[in-house]
Amino acid sequence: MINVNLTDQEKRILQGEEGKVARICMEYIVEMAQIAGADRLIDLDGTGDFHTPGNELSSFYGFSKEDLEELVAAGGHFKIPTFANKSPFPEQAPIHGWESCNVCSYRKAGVRQDDPKFHEQALHEDMMSLMRKMGMMTTHSCANYLTMTYWPSIGQHCSWFESSQIPYCNAVLGARTNFDGSFATCFLGKAPYYGMHVTENRYGSVLVKTDRLIQTDLEWDVFGYAVGCDVHCDVPVLTGTAKPTTTQFQKLNSAIHTGGGVPMYHIPGSTPEAPTVEWALGGKKPVRETLIGEKELVAAYEYLNYHKTNDVDMVYLGCPHLNVVDLMLLCRKMEGKRVKIPMWVMTAPWLYDVAKNLGYVDILAKAGVVLMSGACLAAMGAVPEGVRCIAVDTAKQANYVTGCYPDPNEQLQVCYGTTDECIDAALTGHWHGGWR
Ligand code: F3S
Repeated sequence: MINVNLTDQEKRILQGEEGKVARICMEYIVEMAQIAGADRLIDLDGTGDFHTPGNELSSFYGFSKEDLEELVAAGGHFKIPTFANKSPFPEQAPIHGWESCNVCSYRKAGVRQDDPKFHEQALHEDMMSLMRKMGMMTTHSCANYLTMTYWPSIGQHCSWFESSQIPYCNAVLGARTNFDGSFATCFLGKAPYYGMHVTENRYGSVLVKTDRLIQTDLEWDVFGYAVGCDVHCDVPVLTGTAKPTTTQFQKLNSAIHTGGGVPMYHIPGSTPEAPTVEWALGGKKPVRETLIGEKELVAAYEYLNYHKTNDVDMVYLGCPHLNVVDLMLLCRKMEGKRVKIPMWVMTAPWLYDVAKNLGYVDILAKAGVVLMSGACLAAMGAVPEGVRCIAVDTAKQANYVTGCYPDPNEQLQVCYGTTDECIDAALTGHWHGGWR
């Protein structure tokens, strides 16, 4: 097993000189370092983000709620600015039954788990109060980069969680994180030094070419998924594409980290560590080249579309959580219309309030669309009664949402396509989408 070289201060923490919670967190990080093959820790100077598992946190780590209360009373706080990923699971929730809480509109949507106690308690239960006292900003989003209003700068070391956020931090912001955001890393402000913290590992190793200009939202999404499937966990350099918008970065990041586990990529001329292809490759030859062209895109698109019927029972948008421009565009398309089937749209809780102030919540409500916040259909694991076929507009949701079907013997059918095709499905109840 690799020997992790600790500083004197880190050794003191490990010996318990800074208290029980700090000791347990250090043990956890050292074990992570051993598993990852990191021979030292790095002091974080960026931001943190982790899933908020409610009162389960203490049992996960092995310290009690009283230990945490004691820590908070003594002024214990997160060492780096820390944000909450998706909403927590209330104490009584069946954690492995995937029943995460919703922040807004769960009753209007008629989710299976519609007991207000379940949802409200989750956000205000003791553990979340303690986290807030420690400085956690309870944004409750898997797209915290939309709401945190405090981004790490280029080169800063972070500890984030959630698949779409990892490449956003590394590739789009040029900050550095592995997929390791946790209470321990954010509390101690330390993480194992390996992977994306190390400059050498951030250079591209696979040169990706395409024979179709990647420019629409759907193309970015399918391309991301297909690249992820091809390169797995390597760092690709993506060439032959247009410059992505914020929405397209969201789609690319969530798709590329779902098809594979890509923590970082470069788009020469677009992402901060890739002014040129040569720079992105670190002046070396790529380990290999690959083509993600029309054939590969069609294969990924068809893989993500698994429906025997074109009769759609429900539409779900907001994976990752919708940004404010997408909410504005959605309102423009839905104003004065009325959906025929349930349409749920998910955003970040802090953006829900913005949407309310801008009148979007009302416009969508008049169209029969339910704007929700803080959760994720795949994590809620519960489509309304009778839904057998759902339309979605992102590869990540298409990939995960099948697990939502209440009958383990029957897979939820998924129509996957553009946002406009999903809107059309919501208005007509039929799927008219197709690869074009
Ligand atoms: Fe977020 Fe759930 Fe999608 S966590 S990125 S909405 S699958």
